[in-house]
Amino acid sequence: MSTQVIRPACNLSGAVRPPGDKSISHRYGMLGALASGRSHLANYSTGADCASTLACMAALGAKIERRDDVVEIEGAGLRGLRPPAAPLDAGNSGSTIRMLAGILAGQPFASEIGGDASLSRRPMRRVVEPLQQMGAAIAAAEGGLPPLRFAPAPSGLSGIEYRLPVASAQVKTAVLFAGLFARGATAVIEPQPTRDHTEIALRQCGARISVQRGRVELAAAPGELRPVDLTIPGDPSSAAFFLCAAAMFPEATLVIQGVSVNPRRAVLLDVLRRMGARIGIVEIAETAGELVGTLSAAGPARGRLQGTSIAGAETVALIDEIPVLAVLATACEGGLHVADAAELRVKESDRIAAIAENLRRMGARCEERPDGLIVPGPQQLHAAAVDSRGDHRIAMAFAIAGLVADGPVEIAGADCAAISYPEFYSTLARITD
Ligand code: S3P
Repeated sequence: MSTQVIRPACNLSGAVRPPGDKSISHRYGMLGALASGRSHLANYSTGADCASTLACMAALGAKIERRDDVVEIEGAGLRGLRPPAAPLDAGNSGSTIRMLAGILAGQPFASEIGGDASLSRRPMRRVVEPLQQMGAAIAAAEGGLPPLRFAPAPSGLSGIEYRLPVASAQVKTAVLFAGLFARGATAVIEPQPTRDHTEIALRQCGARISVQRGRVELAAAPGELRPVDLTIPGDPSSAAFFLCAAAMFPEATLVIQGVSVNPRRAVLLDVLRRMGARIGIVEIAETAGELVGTLSAAGPARGRLQGTSIAGAETVALIDEIPVLAVLATACEGGLHVADAAELRVKESDRIAAIAENLRRMGARCEERPDGLIVPGPQQLHAAAVDSRGDHRIAMAFAIAGLVADGPVEIAGADCAAISYPEFYSTLARITD
């Protein structure tokens, strides 16, 4: 377990090109393996989670070659996966185990998928239940936890209409992916909009998807999926650390290049503007149904950042950004109130507890709620030793806290940033003075 020391910064400047989006990379890693032909994925995420997906798909029979951030996948075809020789390993990746569950449920062979200690504590009933409703023979370990075990579905899978009990793009994806192997149409109704990369990716692969007022429907399983050739947009949840950092420096001249500005992932830009940060969209383009842009970011020209509240649909859209927003809150007049975020307790760590504990270690006040937190502001952060709890977003959020503390911040378990952003600390060092 490595430790990183982050020292206070005077300013932020330069250009950052974040790694390929983690969510989009997982989806094309899986769909490319199911396609009939060769997919070419440029700017595939360099994070360990997306490597776990590729390793699982290779174990299931796809031929995968990787040169730096370019991944080529020779798909096995929709009916061409083969039984893995050993249990599949999703590592730390909730997206891998949950989304792949939809695919494994539809296979004519038995399989098992598990992961590391953190993943082994994460709830799986949310995918097990809808897949069982579709006819899958799937079982979780005690308490609805990983590993998941699959047998061939005795009567095959049938499409269902499933109303998500929690707004989760991973669960939506598991059900739609199972729909690729089901009789009839498969529909998912979302209580609140979640990221729509699955809908976009399935369409790119030639599947028929319709979306109407929170109801996503995959028409009867396609005969085959088309391979794709695309450049994956940069990850906005990785860019978020630098955007929030820049928002704390009025003189910042930071540019973020090639980042996804998919409207369902770009809510942070609205929130930062509402807080008074100067966020510019320099250019915007469309690639394979996804929007990608170049952003500029700086703190307010005059006065302080203003605090805000986040609840409901905004919380869903910002779920991965809340750790760094909680750090930013300490620089805001009025702080931050986050509600409806109980999901944060079952991420790679209990993120509500992790944020509160680390803010307290830095001498800041923070009130924990069952479904959120209240961070008063403004408050000076102090030099401290903090703990990532093995959670990449906690490690990176507290690295940003280190930039505005009154002395060095030592992050224990800092190397877990590599789950989504291996280049994070070197990039941070390059753009800070
Ligand atoms: C993801 C969905 C979110 C998010 C995770 C990635 C995805 O999880 O937190 O990092 O790629 O679909 P939930 O679906 O559990 O909300």
